[in-house]
Amino acid sequence: MLYLVKSRLPSGSIHSIPHSKHLDEDLDMLRGKTIIVTGANSGIGKATAAELLRCQGRVIMACRDRERAEKAVQEIQQEAGTEQGELVIKLLDLASLKSVRIFCEEIMKEESRIDILINNAGIYQCPYTKSEDGFEIQFAVNHLGHFLLTNLLLDLLKRSAPSRIIVVSSKLYKYGEINVDDLNSEQSYDKAFAYARSKLANLLFTLELSHRLEETGVTVNALTPGIVQTNLGRHVHIPVLVKPLFNLASRAFFKSPEEGAQTSIYLACSPDVEGVTSSVGEKDKTRKSVATEQQNMNAMRKVSR
Ligand SMILES: NC(=O)c1ccc[n+]([C@@H]2O[C@H](COP(=O)([O-])OP(=O)(O)OC[C@H]3O[C@@H](n4cnc5c(N)ncnc54)[C@H](OP(=O)(O)O)[C@@H]3O)[C@@H](O)[C@H]2O)c1
Repeated sequence: MLYLVKSRLPSGSIHSIPHSKHLDEDLDMLRGKTIIVTGANSGIGKATAAELLRCQGRVIMACRDRERAEKAVQEIQQEAGTEQGELVIKLLDLASLKSVRIFCEEIMKEESRIDILINNAGIYQCPYTKSEDGFEIQFAVNHLGHFLLTNLLLDLLKRSAPSRIIVVSSKLYKYGEINVDDLNSEQSYDKAFAYARSKLANLLFTLELSHRLEETGVTVNALTPGIVQTNLGRHVHIPVLVKPLFNLASRAFFKSPEEGAQTSIYLACSPDVEGVTSSVGEKDKTRKSVATEQQNMNAMRKVSR
C-alpha cells in the first residue's frame, strides 16, 4: 500500500518535501486545524509536532509521561519562533486499553474536531512483557492501542472531514506474519519478529481501514520513516567496546528526527495528498505474495473482531 501512495506522489518527494516545497510558502496552513500525535515527546513524533506547531496547528501531544511531555513542550516552543500554533498535552498509555478509552472520552468531550491523527508512538525489541490487558507488549502498543484509539475517534474524524489518518510503520514489516495461533508469543518469543509483526499489523490495518472509509472524506496512509536516530533502540544491547563506533556510524548514516519526520509531515499537510488513501500497489516488489498477504489480512480480521 505504501508503494501506491509513493507512486502517486511526485517522484522523489516522499523523503524530502515540506520545508522548501510547501510549508515555507504557507506557514499558517494548519491554522484552525487540530492534530493528534501519539508519542510526541521524543524522536520522530516530537519533530513532527514541532513542525505542525510551526504551521500554526493546534497539536495534541498524546504522551504516556507528563514530565517528559512537558520537557518536550518547552524545547519545541523555544524553537518554534513567534508565530506558532498551540501545544496541548494529554496523557495516553497505549499499553492500557483503559487509558486509550479515557483519552478518547476526553477528546470527544473537549474537542469539536480532529483533522489529523498521527499514530506514531512505538516500541522496539523489548524484553518479553505483557500489557495491562494481557497482550504481548509490542503488538499491544504498536498496533492494538492505536487500533482502539483510531476506532474510538472515527466519528469525530468523519465529522471533521476532509481529515487524515497517518500510520507510522517500518520497512521491517516484511519480516512479520500474523500468527493467530501464538499472537501473544506465549509459545516462543522473538523480539525482532514481534516488532515486525506489529508493524505489519499497522499496514494491514491501514489497508482495511482505507477501504472501509471510502467516500467518507477520511483518508488513511502509512509510511516508513527510514533509519532514524531516536530513542527507539533503548532495549537493544550494544557492547560497550562497540558503542563509540556505533554512535559515530549512526550520526553519519542515520537520519535526524527532523529528517525522519518529513513523510509524516508531508502526509499531514500537503495538498498533493488531498484525497489520496492507501491501497496495495501492483508494482510493489518487496511486498509478500498476494496469498500470504491475504492470509495475514484474514488473520487480522479474525483477531480484530
Ligand atoms: N527510529 C527509526 O529508525 C524507526 C524506523 C522505522 C519506524 N520507526 C517508527 O517510528 C515511530 C516513532 O519512533 P521513534 O523512532 O521516534 O522512537 P522514540 O524516540 O523512542 O519515540 C517513541 C515514542 O513513543 C512513545 N511510547 C512508547 N510506548 C508508549 C505507550 N505505551 N503509550 C504512549 N506512548 C508510548 C514514547 O514515549 P516515552 O518517551 O515516554 O517512552 C515516545 O514518545 C515508531 O512507531 C517506530 O516504530 C522508527
